[in-house]
Amino acid sequence: MNKDNRVNFGSKLGVILASAGSAVGLGNIWRFPYEAGNNGGAAFILIYLGCVLILGMPIMVGEFIIGRRSRANTAGAYQKLAPGTQWKWVGRLGVLAGFLILSYYSVVAGWTLEFVGEAATNSFVGKTATDFIDTFNAFTGSAWRPMFWAILFLLITHFIITKGVEKGIERSSKIMMPALFVLLLVLAVCSVSLPGAGEGIRFLLKPDFSKVTASVFLSAMGQAFFSLSLGMGCLCTYASYFKKDTHLAKTAFSVGIIDTGVAILAGFIIFPAAFSVGIQPDAGSSLVFITLPNVFQQAFGGVPLLAYLLSVLFYVLLAIAALTSTISLHEVCTAYLHEEFKLTRNRAATLVTGGCMVLGVLCSLSLGVGKGYTLFGLTLFDLFDYVTAKIMLPGGGMFISIFVGWYLDKRLVKDEITNGGTLRVRIYKPIVFVLKYVAPIGIFFIFINEIGLLKMF
Ligand code: PHE
Repeated sequence: MNKDNRVNFGSKLGVILASAGSAVGLGNIWRFPYEAGNNGGAAFILIYLGCVLILGMPIMVGEFIIGRRSRANTAGAYQKLAPGTQWKWVGRLGVLAGFLILSYYSVVAGWTLEFVGEAATNSFVGKTATDFIDTFNAFTGSAWRPMFWAILFLLITHFIITKGVEKGIERSSKIMMPALFVLLLVLAVCSVSLPGAGEGIRFLLKPDFSKVTASVFLSAMGQAFFSLSLGMGCLCTYASYFKKDTHLAKTAFSVGIIDTGVAILAGFIIFPAAFSVGIQPDAGSSLVFITLPNVFQQAFGGVPLLAYLLSVLFYVLLAIAALTSTISLHEVCTAYLHEEFKLTRNRAATLVTGGCMVLGVLCSLSLGVGKGYTLFGLTLFDLFDYVTAKIMLPGGGMFISIFVGWYLDKRLVKDEITNGGTLRVRIYKPIVFVLKYVAPIGIFFIFINEIGLLKMF
């Protein structure tokens, strides 16, 4: 325990793995391929990579600075660093974004549990691509099963959260992340060698810039923020548990590389396989779930035991990757209620879990029996996704960069990036330059382009 009674992450590796555990999740394996598929493939991916590098990594350093300096939850952090100002709203909106994301994310996380069950009972065997689509639609369209899994997923998250930060988060990240990475690598190799995979690879690598519109930019930027867990105080909350000697810029770089690596691998698994079995790349939120079972079937069909073991292992690891992300989302909300409203950690966690269960159930129903109820033409599930990933996170990122670039004292920023002058960080200047100018202006332009106030592309 530290003298101010806040726990710390134990080791350097723990810091990176916990942050990467938050970043790597359904965003990489489920959301990235479906957004890339909806937005035309390679050109989207290039813009996404640009957003990760130019906006994502510097803003991540910004979040780390705010979190480690204040050693508080994300709303409390702004109150400590900018007392008496309205900056606390950036933190509060971040908590709200986390709460909304956790609600609909749990639904998809719940699907992974259904698939663990399907893989374990060998139900992929003998099915065709069309069968997988039908089964999936019947499952998500039904009321009870997806609801049950979403609630179970939230309860598992709750259990880990109430066991405490260090033990729960760190231990679970350390073991499973490397295993997932290795398995993804194996699957990518299998997928690109499927018959007819070439067209999928072309889709990933050959950009068609004529399809790039304002909303492709917004989607790519939103995906970058979502995938890096950025813009809502998640990494800021984690950084409040960092130690004084954690190298912030290096940690941000490592997390960015790991996260992007997993997303690209997921792309190399999904698209070659989708084209190989004739699934449309713009199949939307079902894409990964209807494509992957084919990979297990086709690539390992000759060795049923291997197909069985790998598919079970894959869905278990996917569920765990989702879990390390739901833990981080939950932690943002729990730390906020616990520290700002002086609730016990248990009570704070219970409120978060309960609230997300209600919203999660509604999101789940909105894909099936409640399909007819839409707002702005979107189901509740899609609305939560749109509002959080495409508006709240990039908006949060814009304010974070303004806060660190303009509001915070330069010496404080330098002190944090260089750990009190003990590190020579060569990219200090570029980071500050991005936070001051590039990020706020860039995000603002992408926003107003989307609304149509400006027509650049
Ligand atoms: N980055 C996580 C993922 O890719 C999702 C997430 C978003 C987690 C925002 C925390 C905050 O799955």
